[in-house]
Amino acid sequence: MPQVALITGGAQGIGKGIAMNFASQGYAVSLADPDKEAGFETIKQLRRMGAQAMFMCVDVADASAVARWVKLTEEDLGRVDVLINNAGIAHNAPFLELAAEDFDRVLAVNLRGTFLCSQEAARAMSRRGGGAIVNIASTRGLMSEAHTEAYSASKGGILALTHAMAVSLGPLGIRVNAVSPGWIEVRDWQKAANAEVPSHSERDKLQHPVGRVGKPQDIADACLYLAGPKSGFITGQNLVVDGGMTVKMIYED
Ligand SMILES: NC(=O)c1ccc[n+]([C@@H]2O[C@H](COP(=O)([O-])OP(=O)(O)OC[C@H]3O[C@@H](n4cnc5c(N)ncnc54)[C@H](O)[C@@H]3O)[C@@H](O)[C@H]2O)c1
Repeated sequence: MPQVALITGGAQGIGKGIAMNFASQGYAVSLADPDKEAGFETIKQLRRMGAQAMFMCVDVADASAVARWVKLTEEDLGRVDVLINNAGIAHNAPFLELAAEDFDRVLAVNLRGTFLCSQEAARAMSRRGGGAIVNIASTRGLMSEAHTEAYSASKGGILALTHAMAVSLGPLGIRVNAVSPGWIEVRDWQKAANAEVPSHSERDKLQHPVGRVGKPQDIADACLYLAGPKSGFITGQNLVVDGGMTVKMIYED
């Protein structure tokens, strides 16, 4: 029976990249995403690759929907080994105008959703002796542009939740880590109706010491490492995957 990876927001963007990469490494994958059209497209692609894959229309902020997703995944695919908390939204607005409801919604999807999915998945993992959780945070959990309070706060919360859960779940055999992506190009990883061919200027590329913008594959590789046996002594950590953008010092001349 293949190992099973649950991926939130797995229908498009980075989550889709993670799903394809886990499937190509032999995992069965279960995707939770509210976008039905995107979910069905991705499931078709996964099945064409020969992967065992399921999709459910789920808002990760909805506790009962999350519980149903994890339960059905365990019933249909037989086990729960890995959870990637990837679903995320942003609502950037001038700070003086940011509505409390918009702040709350970002926190509900990004932070509450990570908590709810982790709790349900950890219950299932603990019944089989353990597993691994990877939370997709952001370099914006560590530094900011103006008017990004809701998103930055949610991602900072995910980093704190990561080390707290690592301590609580260690005795259950569950490791918990975060990946903080920098600038990852996802325009070509959207559903067919929205997909675009991306292009980047030299200036875009040169903001990164590695000389390019990131791809979903970069994040998927980090997730595969943190979910797999080669990272067995790593828990509670945040792996920044940003091509070096956040260590580059900027002097204005
Ligand atoms: N792309 C980047 O440059 C970048 C950088 C840093 C962090 N991230 C993080 O990576 C993750 C994925 O980002 P992306 O760029 O691929 O975004 P995206 O918008 O391309 O894809 C996000 C997916 O999540 C789904 N989603 C939205 N709300 C949801 C909900 N309530 N429940 C379940 N799924 C939901 C969407 O339908 C979509 O399929 C997010 O957590 C984001 O904050 C992205």
